[in-house]
Amino acid sequence: MAQPPFLLSARSIVKSFGPTTVLRGFDLSIAPGEVHAFLGGNGAGKSTFIKIISGQHERDGGTLEFDGQDLGASVAAHVDAGAIAVVNQELALLPHLSVAENIAMPRLRRATRMYSERSSKALAVDALSLIDPHFARESVGRLVGELTLHERQLVEIARALGSGARLLLLDEPTANLTAAETGRLFAVIRRLIADTGLAVLFVSHRMREIRQIADVCTIIRDGKTAVDRAALDAITDSEIVECMGQSVEPDEHAGAAAADAMQIKSEAGATLSLSQGDAITIEQAGIRVEIRRGSIVGLAGAPTGPSALINALTGLAAGNDWDVRRNGAPMRYASPSAAARDGVGFISGDRANKGILETLPIVDNLVAAQRIVERRSVARNQEVQQGTRLLEALNIRAGSLWDLPSTLSGGTQQKLLVARWLPLKPKLLVLEEPTRGVDIRTKREIYALIRKMASQGTAVVWWSTEYVELVELCDTVLAFDLDGHPTGVLTHSDVNETRLASATGMAA
Ligand SMILES: Nc1ncnc2c1ncn2[C@@H]1O[C@H](COP(=O)(O)OP(=O)(O)OP(=O)(O)O)[C@@H](O)[C@H]1O
Ligand SMILES: [Mg+2]
Repeated sequence: MAQPPFLLSARSIVKSFGPTTVLRGFDLSIAPGEVHAFLGGNGAGKSTFIKIISGQHERDGGTLEFDGQDLGASVAAHVDAGAIAVVNQELALLPHLSVAENIAMPRLRRATRMYSERSSKALAVDALSLIDPHFARESVGRLVGELTLHERQLVEIARALGSGARLLLLDEPTANLTAAETGRLFAVIRRLIADTGLAVLFVSHRMREIRQIADVCTIIRDGKTAVDRAALDAITDSEIVECMGQSVEPDEHAGAAAADAMQIKSEAGATLSLSQGDAITIEQAGIRVEIRRGSIVGLAGAPTGPSALINALTGLAAGNDWDVRRNGAPMRYASPSAAARDGVGFISGDRANKGILETLPIVDNLVAAQRIVERRSVARNQEVQQGTRLLEALNIRAGSLWDLPSTLSGGTQQKLLVARWLPLKPKLLVLEEPTRGVDIRTKREIYALIRKMASQGTAVVWWSTEYVELVELCDTVLAFDLDGHPTGVLTHSDVNETRLASATGMAA
């Protein structure tokens, strides 16, 4: 078969970080007009490769051709000229600038005219309207620092979609989008492809959406190309999982990992004050849910509703419409640390803002919750030992405990946040998209860990935009409408994706 003329062709790419070799002669080619799924487990090297072809990392070896032209060392110039646009896995917006400024900036830099507030607003509204006209009008003047992760994700995607690039690199753009938003994003991508012949490299761990949008896939494993441009029609999910090296039965391993990790006790015997018999109830506008120990209560719907409840439970917002009670008395926390000391754990998929301490080494990240609970600011010797055991028990791939969390892949950072709460056995664990960006196997590990915590008496509240996750894991699901109001409670036997879609007003 004749080889199509590729828009981008990467050959024998090599990249190491210090002693860690990530890419070992990796090949990938993208044709114009295609959506190309880039698949591989957590830490396989996907983001590293994307950063190389978007000029953010330098490669140690290999060749890159764009539009038939050898790029040599000039990748950054191509990105700068607007030919390649990227949405990074960890978002890269400037918090102190407005939405309009963030969207317009890359293009204004290339423009010859002076900066004008009006023109950047117009540019931003056009770009955002591709995805959500309502959000476009309401958000352009706001500061990015005030937006939720979810909104920032939309802004960053809009910036790339509206950039006029010929190659779009999307590193897990849908990891925090609702099904409806993902559907709109896909519609825009299809339209741009039909109009401009755009090519898209798309990273996601969600098989269903990969099949909805992508034509071909390349699978990376151990830094090499395990599958090169396979048509998605010709490869099954289980073949893909096998090629990624993820087909080992993970539940067994995860169950063992959970057991191991729970053995890792805080030497000082952290005391959490919520006690065994506590009953927590949440109530708003006549809808009441009891959060029992050992049960998993799911939250479904667009972010507004679940976020308000999560804020009320974790001490992030002092007053809102939720009446939260413990044994009948109001339960209100002045701060997240007060909540933590009372036995309320919190794991968010918004790693960068609500979890990862980016300037502190991995070991401090692992014991952070424990230090808060024990009101300690100084490190203890056994923390190193405990950190090492947690990394082993959870199978976390890290260079050393003293490396910064930014040296870990996105999914691995997520595991770090889960590890933080295991030895503490919180009484209530509040989860906000805890499997954001996590690969298929690690997801099963996290499910097993959370289930294990529930079986040991932790009450769990779990918000997810993935309905399958809620259906599989939750005993009860509280649904919210698009305006953030609770609409009803579904019990396990009633929960399915269709019911959740109608209760939340969002298609699955
Ligand atoms: N700046 C860095 N310094 C050291 N190691 C790094 C650095 N960046 C990435 N790595 C390592 O490179 C490997 C690949 O990471 P990468 O982020 O490319 O994985 P990924 O395929 O994108 O994973 P995920 O699905 O979790 O996002 C990981 O083992 C990671 O720890
Ligand atoms: Mg990544």
